[in-house]
Amino acid sequence: MQFEFTVRRAAAILAIAAPLFHVAPAGAADPAPAAAATAEPLPYTVKDGDKVDANTYKGFLYYGDECHRCHGPAGLGSSYAPALVDSLKHMTKQQFEETVINGRKEVNTAADKVMPAFGTNADVALNLDNIYAYLKARSDGALGRGHPEHLEQ
Ligand code: HEC
Repeated sequence: MQFEFTVRRAAAILAIAAPLFHVAPAGAADPAPAAAATAEPLPYTVKDGDKVDANTYKGFLYYGDECHRCHGPAGLGSSYAPALVDSLKHMTKQQFEETVINGRKEVNTAADKVMPAFGTNADVALNLDNIYAYLKARSDGALGRGHPEHLEQ
């Protein structure tokens, strides 16, 4: 039967191809964490002080829409929420992402300060890398506090 033949053939092809797609157990193929940290490429490109790649530019726009009202202009902080340009000097990207997706509530202060969870906000969730890129560029001192420009690519 044609169908059966096709299924068998597909199975045979898969059996041959499977080793090619073999996924190494987690960690086995990964370089040592220290090496990964130094080898990690910058998430942004900045030229001439204020020209940024398209993703970093998007991050700037979404930061303005979603984060600025609490975290202040250009990630510089406000009386309500911390300066993310400082936070990213010690936070890993993963910690950043977890905080933005899950939110956080400061329980040790009298002030009821809340970092909202953005996990269900598609604009933020889909642009998390871009927002991180913008804030990382600010945090590294690669980008000034003004309105960046698009880099011609
Ligand atoms: C309604 C105000 C508000 C908005 C909007 C907001 N945040 Fe926050 N965020 C806070 C507060 C308050 C904290 C501190 C919470 C705490 O310490 O428990 C915080 C903490 C954080 C932290 C942890 C900083 C650190 O040093 O530990 C990150 C990262 C962060 N926010 C990212 C973002 C990003 C990215 C956005 C936009 C997508 C955003 N926040 C929008 C109020 C806000």
